[in-house]
Amino acid sequence: MAYAAGVDVGSTQTKAIIINEDREIVGRCLTDTGANVVIAAENSFAEALKTSGIREEEVEYVIGTGYGRYRVTFGNTQVTEISCHARGAAQMFPGTKTVLDMGGQDTKAIRVSPKGEVLDFCMNDKCAAGTGRFLGAAAAALDIPLGELGNVAMKAERPVKISTTCTVFAESEVLSWLGKGKKIEDILWGVHLSIASRSTALLRRVGIEDEITFTGGVTKNAGMIKSLEQALKTKLNVSDDSHYMGALGAALFALDHILAGRVPTEEKETA
Ligand SMILES: Nc1ncnc2c1ncn2[C@@H]1O[C@H](COP(=O)(O)OP(=O)(O)OP(=O)(O)O)[C@@H](O)[C@H]1O
Ligand SMILES: [Mg+2]
Repeated sequence: MAYAAGVDVGSTQTKAIIINEDREIVGRCLTDTGANVVIAAENSFAEALKTSGIREEEVEYVIGTGYGRYRVTFGNTQVTEISCHARGAAQMFPGTKTVLDMGGQDTKAIRVSPKGEVLDFCMNDKCAAGTGRFLGAAAAALDIPLGELGNVAMKAERPVKISTTCTVFAESEVLSWLGKGKKIEDILWGVHLSIASRSTALLRRVGIEDEITFTGGVTKNAGMIKSLEQALKTKLNVSDDSHYMGALGAALFALDHILAGRVPTEEKETA
């Protein structure tokens, strides 16, 4: 049995996935990237090996992806996270035409072919206002754990309209609404709606076509799923493994390499 691995070193969290020849996930790890990117990559792979019970020598090919992909020093090659999220999404949800990857630092909209190839993609520019970081800033301002943010937000009855377009000002706007007596849930739902609206605009730039698959760590936030589904007027494909989509895509490319000797080249943004 051949095994392949993908290590997605994101700006915020590092994900490792090991798959077998049948494309089944046999090992995984999720850890914070932290200051030492090389160590995060090494640790996540070691932990994924442990959970799989497979020895390192049995993994024939490893692909690094994510912003720290060139720091996966034990990897055989690198593939961009755009290609990897597209590939992972098409494997997990074969009807995928559009992918929205919401991570810690970036949000990416990707249009994919039925085979999971990237047809077009678009990223939030310098601004992090439509990303996990914006949610993190709001959570910190209101002293709410990130994991509870979505559930608190979904209790809102009268969401406030968040006007700031910059993460740097998110905290002060959130606090100013609090000072005006607005409820925490109404402020938080406003934050979710603002991110959903930015993400919808980003998706429009590549063209929105059903099915839409939602990937990245922000998929763990049920409030974000709900606000996106409301803004897009459609259901999103999400699974418990959606946070691992980039690592899964990298592992699938690694398996392609083992079976057929090919990996994709870097794509260029055209939108
Ligand atoms: N349990 C959770 N509940 C809510 N949000 C979560 C949870 N776990 C992670 N997140 C969100 O996901 C983000 C990390 O996602 P992800 O791992 O996809 O980012 P990344 O790949 O490191 O970043 P990027 O792709 O932008 O470089 C965190 O910043 C946080 O906002
Ligand atoms: Mg990422």
